Amino acid sequence: MTPGWWTEAVIYQIYPRSFADSDGDGIGDLPGITARLDHLVELGVDAVWLSPFYPSPQADAGYDVADYRDVEPLFGTLPDADRLIGEAKRRGLRVIVDLVPNHTSSAHVWFAEALTAAPGSPQRQRYVFRDGLGADGGEPPNDWQSVFGGPAWTRVTEPDGRPGQWYLHLFDTAQPDLNWDNPEVRAEFVDVLRFWLDRGVDGFRVDVAHGLIKQADLADWQEPQEILSGREVDKPRPPMWDQDGVHEIYREWRRVVDSYGSAPQDGRVLVAEAWVEPAERLARYIRPDEMHQAFNFEYLLAAWTAPAQYAVITRSLEATDAVGAPTTWVLSNHDVVRHASRLGLPIGTPRPNGIGAQDPQPDAGLGLRRARAATLLMLALPGSAYLYQGEELGLPEHTTLPDEARQDPTYHRTRGAQRGRDGCRVPIPWEADAPSYGFGPTDASWLPQPPSWSEYALDRQRDVPGSTYEVYRAALRLRREHGLGRGALRWLESADEVLAFANDGLRVLTNFGPAPVPLPEGAEVLVSSAPLDGTGHVPTDVTVWFRA
Ligand code: GLC
Repeated sequence: MTPGWWTEAVIYQIYPRSFADSDGDGIGDLPGITARLDHLVELGVDAVWLSPFYPSPQADAGYDVADYRDVEPLFGTLPDADRLIGEAKRRGLRVIVDLVPNHTSSAHVWFAEALTAAPGSPQRQRYVFRDGLGADGGEPPNDWQSVFGGPAWTRVTEPDGRPGQWYLHLFDTAQPDLNWDNPEVRAEFVDVLRFWLDRGVDGFRVDVAHGLIKQADLADWQEPQEILSGREVDKPRPPMWDQDGVHEIYREWRRVVDSYGSAPQDGRVLVAEAWVEPAERLARYIRPDEMHQAFNFEYLLAAWTAPAQYAVITRSLEATDAVGAPTTWVLSNHDVVRHASRLGLPIGTPRPNGIGAQDPQPDAGLGLRRARAATLLMLALPGSAYLYQGEELGLPEHTTLPDEARQDPTYHRTRGAQRGRDGCRVPIPWEADAPSYGFGPTDASWLPQPPSWSEYALDRQRDVPGSTYEVYRAALRLRREHGLGRGALRWLESADEVLAFANDGLRVLTNFGPAPVPLPEGAEVLVSSAPLDGTGHVPTDVTVWFRA
């Protein structure tokens, strides 16, 4: 594997709306992030990934981009972005930005042009427009469903006022899919890459990287529409996901980013958000001439049992080794129930898309205990790890958000059947006793913060031994000192209830079983996710790093 900063980096995801608000309007912004960069240095991460901050009507919280080369006024200005990138670099933090190439916003100038142009025109060929089926074209061109619920096609009104063609949107109506068979679209995104590379970014997280190319015949797909393709290698692929044609796009992008730097300490990176299974299929996105990393969602989804964790870790390492790429690990992001809550649901619960007040509630204590154990297990693994803002505070999902506060299009498009992702996007608490817990200078917060969150605030945890924050800090410091990210894993135990491995000089043990487990004679504990019991045994749902 070619070594590089990214092969062992811990990358912290910032969701700009909810990180820090500098102007008191209740929506986080770029100056807010810049003012809080020292927190990330203190925490000990290597890089940040910023979710989209581009001009956008915010129909999908910024994943509906109206202009790829500017900053949404809610979040600041282009000079604010430059300042953020510069201040991060000055502190030794790298910056990865989000690129959303599968679709634009319907407010993008290209889509406005497509609507006023004729069927078959070059303006329409930037998107996926088709005539409808049936005598009057009143039926959608195929049976695809949107990931957010409802049909994946919307009919337009032609400039002459008559009902017209349909356009494809795998996500919200306000997110028309681009036509990646069109060279003009390809050229445009190469230019967008260059725009941000010229401003000094260290890479791109590529949104819906497995969706850009659709099967040419747009064949019907009777099975449920899920962003996670969840396929066995030999099963037919869904016609909208993981088509072979996507790889050519990433080979071209790799040449572009490499031209800005490919040396170990200078490399600009591409990270695939590709909900593709199994791991061998995902590994195709990170072949040597394609992207550098892909999110390991199979790991995120794995059950909290020793056999499931052993299997997913082993499989992940093998699959990425086979293509010479770093393995990545992730437990939380802005699209899933935070792991401090997810792991508080009964083992075997299918992945929930949000949790509402009417749903069975997670066991908060158990969830946090397991989350800390899971994080400590993850941070000891070789490869690169992704953290999501607030998890260093042990922050749970907001599981009782009032329905009227919900903003995720998933909630509205499924008429509430899916609660959606708002619960993991609530602005994070910094100071227990400040308005909006220090998120901003006022009480305003675009999603209500639960009354119980003062206990999670950073100022309640900093320098408090055993707090979640101090466990994260200690782990990140030790991970760096021991070079765990570039180490090698050797299993020592993979029983039904206990996992143990060595990563270079360090040993790691997680107890998933009901009975406390002894450590080897003379073991020196470096950090543990919760205190050991009175006899020095490792209790249930605890991970320990030690020297033996
Ligand atoms: C990705 C993003 C998600 C967004 C979707 C559509 O999955 O992570 O937040 O809604 O793409 O852009």
